Amino acid sequence: MASPLHVVILAGGKGTRMYSKLPKVLHQIGGKPMLGHVIDCASRLTPENLVVIYGHEGELVKASMGNEQLTWVLQEPQLGTGHAMQCAAPALPPEGMTFVLYGDVPLLAEGTLNNMLAVAGSGEQVVLLTQLLDDPSGYGRIVRDAQGAVSAIVEHKDASPEQLSINEINTGILLLPNRHLHRWLAALTNNNAQGEYYLTDLIGLAVQDGVIVETVQPGKPWETLGVNNKLQLAELERHYQSEVAQQLMLQGVTLRDPSRLDVRGQLRCGQDVMIDVNCVFEGDVVLGDDVVIGPNCVLKDCTLAAGTQIAAYSHIDGAMVGEGARIGPFARLRPGAELSADVHIGNFVEIKKSKVGLGSKVNHLSYVGDAKIGAGVNVGAGTITCNYDGANKSLTEIGDGAFIGSGSMLVAPVTIGVGATIGAGSTITKPAPDNVLTVARAKQLTITNWQRPVKKKD
Ligand code: UD1
Ligand code: CA
Repeated sequence: MASPLHVVILAGGKGTRMYSKLPKVLHQIGGKPMLGHVIDCASRLTPENLVVIYGHEGELVKASMGNEQLTWVLQEPQLGTGHAMQCAAPALPPEGMTFVLYGDVPLLAEGTLNNMLAVAGSGEQVVLLTQLLDDPSGYGRIVRDAQGAVSAIVEHKDASPEQLSINEINTGILLLPNRHLHRWLAALTNNNAQGEYYLTDLIGLAVQDGVIVETVQPGKPWETLGVNNKLQLAELERHYQSEVAQQLMLQGVTLRDPSRLDVRGQLRCGQDVMIDVNCVFEGDVVLGDDVVIGPNCVLKDCTLAAGTQIAAYSHIDGAMVGEGARIGPFARLRPGAELSADVHIGNFVEIKKSKVGLGSKVNHLSYVGDAKIGAGVNVGAGTITCNYDGANKSLTEIGDGAFIGSGSMLVAPVTIGVGATIGAGSTITKPAPDNVLTVARAKQLTITNWQRPVKKKD
């Protein structure tokens, strides 16, 4: 690549047809705002600067993109795509090349942009991304001369009947030499059907100046699709998800049904991972070798070591799970759950901010919060760590090899010793010593002369 690269992302649209309080470009595809996809794609080209043209709810859009090194330019009022670029012009140096991208066209691939750069050569030419469509209505049409060279773009509303029959359309994405760009932008007028400054008029100006206009087609047809309403948002989400599923399968992951997988973030998988239907992955999820995920699970920001099995309907958020663990069905791991290898967590068990040691089992109907459980512990059904007094959270510590009888209340702060046994139904409020039985429940009483009340007949 010869000249330094610049990128302008047009994100000024209000998005009226989304019927949402959220600015259009913040609506998400694969768990990431559309604008975030475009910024990420553009950033991979390592441009010298990346300019975002915004209009509505600018502060919200800026705050959502946060960390990025972006140049934000307000376009107010919005007088067309050409006017948007006029607003960007002060941020663009006189030399180099500039890509024009769109905040509501989120699936554009880096490969397509690289193809455009390859065609641009030393950066003297204009490169347009165009597409052949069966139904070109609504789009700007690419007008070519007798030799087949591009001579202009005509907007649908300004097109003659003959031009309307052209099915090569302007995707809006283009690459321009800055040397000419500034002069052409200054020359734009709004003398057209919409009374707007059209960016597309630059093409006619380029042709007048004898600058060659090349065209490139996108790698995949949906890369250039824009989002104006929730229907289109859902369509693009499906394209995105099917790409993600394809990539996972080509890396060796078994998906029981690739059309029933949703990845809203990043999913990294080891060898021989199997994922059943209707699972949702959010944030950063790492699955080790041979991990099996049952149907209808939600996994967010978690790491599962090799050989772990998650049974159906489990919800895992912010947890670390050791090798060979067995979780679920219907288990919930909350942030700060750290499970060692071979731990078993069964149905209707919730684990929060707790460590569970090697091979320990919490198999049924329990709540474990703010606890440190040693190795080889058995926590009986219906056990609860009473970790919260309404103001403070307190710790429960359970030593290696302890056995907690079913239905026990462990009122924190409290310590259960190594090898200790807790009798079922105990409410434990004081330390339970190592290796002995502790029971804390009312003594059983049998009243032999007691009579059950009898209903009176009337
Ligand atoms: C534009 C192209 C058309 C092309 C189509 C592809 C022009 C004049 N026409 O038409 O050739 O086929 O895109 O979808 O460029 N925007 C701003 N500020 C403005 C106006 C628009 O930031 O003042 C942004 C919008 O948010 C949107 C994008 O530019 O993301 C395109 O604007 P829109 O009005 O939708 O362009 P079209 O009329 O569809
Ligand atoms: Ca328009």
